[in-house]
Amino acid sequence: MNAGLYQQIQQFYDASSGLWEQLWGPHMHHGYYGREGGNQVERRQAQVDLIEALLNAATDKLGVNLPDRISSFLDVGCGIGGSTLYLAQKFNASGTGITLSPVQAARASARAAAAHLSPQTTFLVADALNTPFADNSFDLVWSLESGEHMPDKHKLLQECYRVLKPGGTLILATWCHRPTAPTGLGSIGLSGPLQPSELRHLKQIYRVYHLPYVISLPEYEAIARAVGFLNLHTADWSDAVAPFWDDVIRSAFSPAAIFGLLRAGLPTIKGALAMGLMKNGYRRGLIRYGVLWATKGDGVMR
Ligand SMILES: C[S@@+](CC[C@H](N)C(=O)[O-])C[C@H]1O[C@@H](n2cnc3c(N)ncnc32)[C@H](O)[C@@H]1O
Repeated sequence: MNAGLYQQIQQFYDASSGLWEQLWGPHMHHGYYGREGGNQVERRQAQVDLIEALLNAATDKLGVNLPDRISSFLDVGCGIGGSTLYLAQKFNASGTGITLSPVQAARASARAAAAHLSPQTTFLVADALNTPFADNSFDLVWSLESGEHMPDKHKLLQECYRVLKPGGTLILATWCHRPTAPTGLGSIGLSGPLQPSELRHLKQIYRVYHLPYVISLPEYEAIARAVGFLNLHTADWSDAVAPFWDDVIRSAFSPAAIFGLLRAGLPTIKGALAMGLMKNGYRRGLIRYGVLWATKGDGVMR
């Protein structure tokens, strides 16, 4: 049922990941520029800062010290292994990364070998909605900017829950649209159903980045609760990450970027040209960066 979408996602990342890595490094996600987004941070550092900010917030919100807890983790939508290798090293843990792109899986494995992390990391082409892992396999499920690609958000969270060990932690950061509840005032006062111009804007983003649809953060929270997650916390980090697009757009006009884009082909060129859609999406309060932290219950009655 998802074959067409999955093929598009695979082809998009197969074709564009080499150029992304060459220009922007191994992390294929936003950077973190301080809570209000005002910190001047070099882009690659900002991407590492995002990982650290997500982990620190997990410690604060969930009351767990992650390094004491993690011996194995799953990176859902791992790209070329940016987070997987970072977390494997940081926690001295075994990490498994899954992606739809064989090119990404191969590159992630090569990067692991170069970093002497092959013995503790594995990269597979696998569907996040139907993974090959046994129940209760991982201490941490980490998903950084892949949820927006998933055609069934409920199934995604169900699968994350299934493969987590009891007491395990979920950290998920994903592109969302603004909340639509009538009373849910956003940061710039938007509420109620999405308007026709917002729907058109989203459609353009979906087309270019091969997203079936995105949902709001409260919807993710409701799904996570329905699936059984406990200790749920969410945060809208749009302000903290939105400056990333200025940085990426600026660097996309370098001669190396233009040459690389021409070589990578049309879908990658379209992706680059559409960066303004994301920037404007944040500016008008439509695109939101949603983060969710949660725990799988350990079954102990308290
Ligand atoms: C924007 S990249 C993020 C990569 C990585 N998390 C990072 O931050 O560097 C999105 C990733 O999600 C993966 N993805 C999309 N849909 C997927 C699915 N159904 N199953 C597994 N991976 C998927 C893509 O293959 C790609 O690796």
